[in-house]
Amino acid sequence: MILVMGGAGYIGSHTTKHLLDSGCEVVVADNLVYGHRQAVDARARFCHADLLDIFSLQTLFATYHIDAVVHFAAFAYVGESMADPAKYYANNVVGTINLLNVMQAFRVEKIVFSSTCATYGEPLHTPIDERHPQLPINPYGRSKLAVEQILEDYRRAYGLKYIALRYFNAAGCSADASMGESHTPETHLIPLVLKAITGERDVVKIFGTDYDTPDGTCIRDYIHVEDLALAHRLALEKLDSFSGCLNLGAGVGTSVREVIVAAENVSGQKCPVEYAPRREGDPAKLFADKRKAEEILGWKPRYTDMEDIIRTAWNWEKSRKF
Ligand code: UFG
Repeated sequence: MILVMGGAGYIGSHTTKHLLDSGCEVVVADNLVYGHRQAVDARARFCHADLLDIFSLQTLFATYHIDAVVHFAAFAYVGESMADPAKYYANNVVGTINLLNVMQAFRVEKIVFSSTCATYGEPLHTPIDERHPQLPINPYGRSKLAVEQILEDYRRAYGLKYIALRYFNAAGCSADASMGESHTPETHLIPLVLKAITGERDVVKIFGTDYDTPDGTCIRDYIHVEDLALAHRLALEKLDSFSGCLNLGAGVGTSVREVIVAAENVSGQKCPVEYAPRREGDPAKLFADKRKAEEILGWKPRYTDMEDIIRTAWNWEKSRKF
């Protein structure tokens, strides 16, 4: 049985569905602080657990025979991490140490961990490969980097088998629109653009038009959430022969303006925009060198076109259940 820790969240719920579709048995654990109970596929078992409540973790591992863990449970708001770093280090770092120690006590030696391109900080070059220096510029990125280093220490000392997946910008939703992206508060570009199109929001603000990029707006690497889910399954299958860190991105950079145009094309409607100053801590350009993940996992993103990615998000936005 696979334990999906944080499986009621955006990427965790899509990965749970993918694992179930592939024939795995899954138990989802989540504290439901940011996750949605309705996002958890009905075929999965569900357990209320919290990384900072060791007893809840022990109960979980005592109840289910867990072979491997996929660990998504983390706080992931960059701005909030600057205002309240204690919350981020407690949940993301201390919580993960609790999880690793309970895994060890129950002799569970495999983990796939959600890391982030935020561990690289301000990029020195693009595309960013895994050897790019890791100098995160906010507590969120530092909390994820700390866990990557802890995983490596546990591998060396205790034989832990781990793969840390450094996501670039997760986007889109399941092809059948049964689940999708739903954050409160919502800070991510694509859902905000779609909400401006539906009228749920008045406008979307474009944070900065004076970046050193072809159209002046920030460039990001949007990777479809189902491609991320696939990579997690492949990583689980690879843990016996590889431990380390892999980038997960589409390997293509898309600007904020290009995202807005793609959303307008998909929806057939105009997106009301407002120009705003740069958001603090936003690098001009981030995109991945994804060759290592392709090589090690035999993974290839299926979604390569921005409009196809946005179409799935648009279908979800029009019919969302949570
Ligand atoms: N943006 C806008 N207007 C908005 C929201 C975003 O112009 O209302 C821009 C941002 O400036 C950025 C791009 O759209 O250039 C994407 O922003 P998101 O907030 O959607 O995503 P980020 O690139 O900031 O964040 C993502 C992940 C984080 C991770 C970070 C690493 O969501 O978890 O990448 O850089 F930490």
